[in-house]
Amino acid sequence: MAHYYDKKQDSEFVLNQFDCVINGKCYTFYTAPGVFSAKKLDFGTKVLVHNMQVKGRVLDLGCGIGIVGRIASEKATEVVMTDVNKRACKLAKMNCRKGKVLCGDMYEKIIGKFDVILFNPPQAVGKKICFEMISKAKDYLVKGGSLQVVARHNKGGKTFMLFMEKEFGNVDTLVKSGGYRVYISTI
Ligand SMILES: C[S@@+](CC[C@H](N)C(=O)[O-])C[C@H]1O[C@@H](n2cnc3c(N)ncnc32)[C@H](O)[C@@H]1O
Repeated sequence: MAHYYDKKQDSEFVLNQFDCVINGKCYTFYTAPGVFSAKKLDFGTKVLVHNMQVKGRVLDLGCGIGIVGRIASEKATEVVMTDVNKRACKLAKMNCRKGKVLCGDMYEKIIGKFDVILFNPPQAVGKKICFEMISKAKDYLVKGGSLQVVARHNKGGKTFMLFMEKEFGNVDTLVKSGGYRVYISTI
């Protein structure tokens, strides 16, 4: 059986929807089997969208069905979303019509630099890939730009935080909520 972080999904594409409230506003998202958190808003995603600092050109890295990009598009001047999972990309296009969705591995399809990169790491795929995605963010940020990462602090998050500090020379915590934290590094 394919994982949510695989390029191709072997399950049947059955289009579904779920509702959720973000910042007091009700949203409906298209979903399907074979994507991350297919049935409901993931708690980490919720912590990120409630606390992310959005400005200018934004990259939603590992966008899944595009929830982060959709919310970011309300404040950003431009939103680019990317994911390796083709099905997730198809749904992200449906969920965030204002954003541009590029299906590819890590930064494979990404051109140009961003003011903000938002990232809910695919921990199931392993630390090596997540670290690579964090490290390469430096090449895609404008001067003064930031990488914002959400994770459960005691389930890998602390490791990401320390890695961000090593790679960027700085890291701060934007918020702590229900065991999750949003870490921010600037370049
Ligand atoms: C934890 S999920 C977060 C999804 C979405 N941002 C959210 O918060 O709902 C991580 C996403 O990273 C994607 N991903 C995993 N490996 C990737 C890679 N090598 N390149 C791009 N995206 C990848 C997965 O397919 C998944 O959609």
